[in-house]
Amino acid sequence: MLVGILHSLIRKDEKMLMEALTQRGVAFELIDDRKVVFDLQANGFERFDVILERCINHSRALYALHILNDWGIPTVNTAQVAEICGNKLLTTSALVRHGVPTPRVKVAFTPESALEAIEEMGYPVVLKPAIGSWGRLLSKINDREAAEAVLEHKKILGTYHHSIFYIQEYIHKPGRDIRAFVVGDETIAAIYRTSDHWITNTARGGRASNCPVTPELNDLCLRAARAVGGGVLAIDILEDPDRGYLVNEVNYTMEFKNSVEPTGVDIPGKIVDFVIRVAKEGWERANGWEPTTVTAERV
Ligand SMILES: Nc1ncnc2c1ncn2[C@@H]1O[C@H](COP(=O)(O)OP(=O)(O)O)[C@@H](O)[C@H]1O
Ligand SMILES: [Mg+2]
Repeated sequence: MLVGILHSLIRKDEKMLMEALTQRGVAFELIDDRKVVFDLQANGFERFDVILERCINHSRALYALHILNDWGIPTVNTAQVAEICGNKLLTTSALVRHGVPTPRVKVAFTPESALEAIEEMGYPVVLKPAIGSWGRLLSKINDREAAEAVLEHKKILGTYHHSIFYIQEYIHKPGRDIRAFVVGDETIAAIYRTSDHWITNTARGGRASNCPVTPELNDLCLRAARAVGGGVLAIDILEDPDRGYLVNEVNYTMEFKNSVEPTGVDIPGKIVDFVIRVAKEGWERANGWEPTTVTAERV
């Protein structure tokens, strides 16, 4: 078996994944997204049984996964999952469609309609770029004057991408959120991310500690994972004082290096085992789903 690792920089996470593959005696090849060229008519990647995507840049990941999947090469995760999870608007839409509890979100396409939506939702609200991560460019807006200022800045200084206004209600969470790790049909671990700042990402100084995976948390995370197409996913959950768990977003190229120690779970080992299962048994079985049979009528 040959596993490909599509990567940018080799971070600690990628090193841990390589170690896990080596421990299992599985051969792998690195594919650097800064050097790779995809010849769409020629393929040239047939030797890989599966490719694990670890790019830092969402667009590179997304296009590479689409090309690989169109060639019939299994990937973790799939292009469809990357498409949904790389975009908060599409993620929320998928969660709502599948009945997964999530904070209220409104979408508007002009500053004027966005302001109306914000006023109607009530302050504070959180404005987020549909595509983005590590807590960057999130705005907590506490009043109308701040709303007007942020909307004007986005319109005049931002690319068109920033004029797709994703407006989310602010959740009065208890100084922390939950980051849960789903691999296939199991929530393998979770951490609390605690911070004095309302943005709790560990990349922004949030402190990680173990969060017990209760049956309730596991069930919610698996529903969220299924809603976006399954795989290896990190689920962000906010605790609402009245409504309980709300799924904030789902991440598809998860970072885990800060979570192995507090949880005591071999996260890279579990990811690698899933990748091997995808190569051997296909995406659906690796996720614990019944493979869809193509019946005569459907053909
Ligand atoms: N609606 C919200 N209410 C309260 N806190 C939020 C809300 N949205 C985001 N946060 C905080 O900001 C962090 C980053 O937001 P998130 O939507 O996960 O964006 P990113 O993709 O940048 O991680 C979350 O982990 C959470 O701590
Ligand atoms: Mg997040």
